[in-house]
Amino acid sequence: MAAARARVVVITGGSRGIGLATAQAFAAQGDQVIISGRDAGRLKSAADQIRSDQIDKIVCDVRDPASVEQTFQQIDSRYGTIDVLFNNAGVAHALTPVEKLAPETWREVMETNLTGMYLVTRAALPLMGAGSSIVNNLSVAAVQPFSGMSAYNAAKFGALGFTKALREELRQKGIRVIALLPGATNTEIWQQFWPGAPREKMMKSETVAAAILHAISAPSEASVEELMIGPTAGVL
Ligand SMILES: NC(=O)c1ccc[n+]([C@@H]2O[C@H](COP(=O)([O-])OP(=O)(O)OC[C@H]3O[C@@H](n4cnc5c(N)ncnc54)[C@H](OP(=O)(O)O)[C@@H]3O)[C@@H](O)[C@H]2O)c1
Repeated sequence: MAAARARVVVITGGSRGIGLATAQAFAAQGDQVIISGRDAGRLKSAADQIRSDQIDKIVCDVRDPASVEQTFQQIDSRYGTIDVLFNNAGVAHALTPVEKLAPETWREVMETNLTGMYLVTRAALPLMGAGSSIVNNLSVAAVQPFSGMSAYNAAKFGALGFTKALREELRQKGIRVIALLPGATNTEIWQQFWPGAPREKMMKSETVAAAILHAISAPSEASVEELMIGPTAGVL
């Protein structure tokens, strides 16, 4: 019997945090993983940490349609298919009341966390077929409002709406769409939000990564549509 083909897994924001932990988890299963992010140096050190010869890296800014198109042209020419797309790239902003929130901050958060997810999904879909999966990293902030987080909340609520519409569009094609809603996870993003946050109470990125792999492994007749996972201890 022929050996099963390694899955091709594309992870935006794969250079650190939840994206890097998820890249590590897929690579440990023998999958071909492509990580992307804006910073070439951080991507290289992430790929070096993973120590798999099935790690590839492509510099990509999810806010930039041309950068996204080029990235998926490269993926098409190197691999020709995508089995798992993890839309994970994201940014936060310092806790700020609306009247003090700068328009450029608003735009950066919306363009990264919402428009970026649409641009990447649009470019990836021609390479995806029945049996493939899209995991959109939202947040508990996609369903729960937090004071001082208006741009982040708006982008994540919007991204949940996008995810739900996408799921309905792709049902007939046999492409599963999973909304991932993690609670507080110990990553560098907290430096942007709240530098003094009690990071020791948060989940590890590896825990979120394991939940993603578990959700993807559901039998083909079923789909985990929403995956909410949070720390046992309260953080916020
Ligand atoms: N940590 C939490 O508590 C938590 C909870 C719920 C959901 N999330 C979500 O999880 C996702 C990952 O966050 P994290 O906590 O792992 O944060 P992180 O450690 O700061 O990682 C963010 C990743 O996104 C990349 N990125 C940022 N802007 C980008 C852009 N314009 N284009 C391409 N890549 C970009 C970063 O790389 P470059 O800077 O090099 O581009 C980095 O690899 C985000 O969507 C976040 O909203 C996090």
